Amino acid sequence: MLVVALSVVAALIDSAAAQELAITGTWVPQEMTADVLAHQPQNVRVLTVREARGGLIGKLIVPGLAGIPVAVEQNGDRIRLVIQIARGMETPFDATLTPDHLSVTSLGSGNPPTMLRRPSPEEGQVLERMTPAKLPIPPVKALPPNGLARTPPMGFSTWNHFQTGIDDRTIRDIGDALVKTGMRDAGYVYVNIDDGWQGDRDEHGTLRANGKFPDMKALAAYLHGQGLKLGMYTSPGPKSCAGFEGTYGHEEQDARTFAEWGVDYLKYDWCSAGLIYDDAEMPAVYQKMAEAIRATGRPMVFSLCQYGRADVWKWGADAGGNLWRTTGDITDKWQVMSTIGFAQDDLAPFAGPGHWNDPDMLEVGNGSMSAAEYRTHMSLWALLAAPLIAGHDVRSSAPETVALLTNREVIAIDQDALGRPGRRVVRRGPLEVWTRPLEGKKIAVGLFNRGEAPAKVEASFTELGIKGRAGALDVWAQRSLDALEGIVSAEVEPHAVMLLVLEPSAEGEAGKPAASKK
Ligand code: GLA
Repeated sequence: MLVVALSVVAALIDSAAAQELAITGTWVPQEMTADVLAHQPQNVRVLTVREARGGLIGKLIVPGLAGIPVAVEQNGDRIRLVIQIARGMETPFDATLTPDHLSVTSLGSGNPPTMLRRPSPEEGQVLERMTPAKLPIPPVKALPPNGLARTPPMGFSTWNHFQTGIDDRTIRDIGDALVKTGMRDAGYVYVNIDDGWQGDRDEHGTLRANGKFPDMKALAAYLHGQGLKLGMYTSPGPKSCAGFEGTYGHEEQDARTFAEWGVDYLKYDWCSAGLIYDDAEMPAVYQKMAEAIRATGRPMVFSLCQYGRADVWKWGADAGGNLWRTTGDITDKWQVMSTIGFAQDDLAPFAGPGHWNDPDMLEVGNGSMSAAEYRTHMSLWALLAAPLIAGHDVRSSAPETVALLTNREVIAIDQDALGRPGRRVVRRGPLEVWTRPLEGKKIAVGLFNRGEAPAKVEASFTELGIKGRAGALDVWAQRSLDALEGIVSAEVEPHAVMLLVLEPSAEGEAGKPAASKK
């Protein structure tokens, strides 16, 4: 009895201590000064934590004034913080809480802890003034499809190669080069101007391009005259990721401006919207812009970019998206590209005609991967039914880059009318086999070697879901192979792929018994 009573008292004391030790509220780095707060907003870092629906919601505000969600778990004075920048990019921290300090340690980094403190009342007021007020967002509903992007969009974007170093002349030259290289005729029609074109707003709040783009309407007309389409970029936040003017509070107005210019495609990049909204509000925020675009009457492919957070594949189409990023940013590195590409398997059921998973733009031709690695990149993106948005300097494409990007059979796989993304059917260590069902009962098969030594990669017909015999085309070699039976197998170099299109013979069609071998 006494033991029970004592443990009840102990629990009460514990919970009183835990209550005293509230993580909720605002935290700033120990060394933050009034000067940084007043004059260097770009250097302000803040952690806020609040209670919501029985749990804790954290947000990290970092330079550039982006708000990044942080999962927060509290157990007395022990805190686990997980920063969630993008799908597959979760970074955990351990922290110890005292009444007025939070000591945060990056797991496994060996770095000394970062000490956070509570802001003074004056600092708190300045911080509050820095966060823009939240404007209303619409109640969430399922928008009907807009009829665009029945196959994954194909085109070019400035970001991967040029970042913000873009101007009108460069875009026109890229348009010309898309025509001259044959890329336009292969399907690469969208010319997407990413971050860095924005200027300021005029006295009516109308967004203008910066001085490097003297006349967007004329630029759009030029591209349209070349049989190309214009893509544009903005953010639902007050600032884009590169710090340019965003669309926050100007959704209808900016949609009208884009329509007036002749824009055909809009990438809507979360960036600083995280300052204002929680991730749970993403569907409404994207829906708001989708509705604003539709109200203009001009068809625009709507590209959601929020790094694959909040299970976007479950609501992206309802919010009006034709494609949604499923990852953080790609870079021109084997490790990054392959990690992204091979992590898409479970998202396959969510994509289809009009609404696609977007594992980010192509790096083919940017120079830091080998020819085999770029072939793997293209093959995987085609099997995934990913948008093919070239990201190199098309004005100076090497012939092998053009050949890689315009291989007819690879594009046919990507653009297949069934619109069913491929799946992994075999994984043996670093060896993977992916298949994608194609129109006419054909099957695209990728035999991938992610390892560092040549290896035999194989899959049985059972694993591939094929009965009987199958005709085979080697896509990269562009030649037909002898008919296959029972197994497909190839010696594959490190980081390389053998990409095949199999055509099962009629008697082996699904549902019918396999041809008997006597
Ligand atoms: C984010 C996006 C990128 C690119 C940049 C531009 O990082 O994920 O694709 O648009 O912003 O600043």
